[in-house]
Amino acid sequence: MTQLVRKAVIPAAGYGTRFLPISKAVPKEMLPLVDKPVIQYVVEEAVASGITDILMVISRGKRAIEEHFAPALDLELELEAKGRTAELEALRTLQSLARIHYVWQPKMGGLGDAVRYARTFVGDEPFALLLGDTVVTTKEGDKPVTRQLADVVELHGGSCVALQEVSADKVSRYGIMGGEEVQPGVIRASKFVEKPKPEEAPSRLAVSARYVLSPAIFHHLDQTKPGKGGELQLTDAMASLMAAEPLFGLRFDGQRHDIGNKLDFIKANVHFGLEREDIGGALREWLKGVVG
Ligand code: G1P
Repeated sequence: MTQLVRKAVIPAAGYGTRFLPISKAVPKEMLPLVDKPVIQYVVEEAVASGITDILMVISRGKRAIEEHFAPALDLELELEAKGRTAELEALRTLQSLARIHYVWQPKMGGLGDAVRYARTFVGDEPFALLLGDTVVTTKEGDKPVTRQLADVVELHGGSCVALQEVSADKVSRYGIMGGEEVQPGVIRASKFVEKPKPEEAPSRLAVSARYVLSPAIFHHLDQTKPGKGGELQLTDAMASLMAAEPLFGLRFDGQRHDIGNKLDFIKANVHFGLEREDIGGALREWLKGVVG
């Protein structure tokens, strides 16, 4: 029997340089998709996947994230006095989603470096890692992708990362995994390269913002030297981990909304806006008019 996945780490310390000037004082993770910040969707995915404890890795300028999830008794009293029951309910639900903890990454050093700050929190159990600037949706009726990864790890042990096929001209934006398909959609890793040139990519399978990792990753991060861009790359530590323990990739059916860049941010707002009961219909009509 392997261990259950109960803990999650959400790195949210990056500068968000692709989204300046807004990301100077507003964390990119706090940008709204309709009326909820991106990071709330990420936390909701974790909670829907069975996670009870979350560690957010933050940095200077990210305090709005803490405020968003913290209790606000004055606001509750105000809403109660005004009889705004629906808003009060939404606020209380938000504040009780999970036990949320914070740690500071004092200096940017790459995703691998951010994950290292989670060692004490994680201890000796497998944990989920969800990038705080990316929302991942699955088809209606399907489990959230983090739950799908946890299912693989709870059954087989080891680690499992989410994979999506990308076109050859986009492999240089991602960690790319190569390996052998052991059952439909599940691939055992034998190669990882961070942001390769198309001719150096072992496949077109991109690591896609969601991971469930064995706690042994911390040992491998310790052994890993700075890689691409002079940063400590999680991809390089996973390449080392895969030689010691099973590491799988799961090709999932779903959509990744990377909020860290402008075009995808606008697309995501349209996507979630269209899904909303209150504004979806009106937005659809308006869009038809705009695009002719
Ligand atoms: C990070 C990882 C990369 C991964 C990507 C999307 O890159 O380093 O391996 O494919 O997230 O999950 P970033 O987008 O932070 O440059």
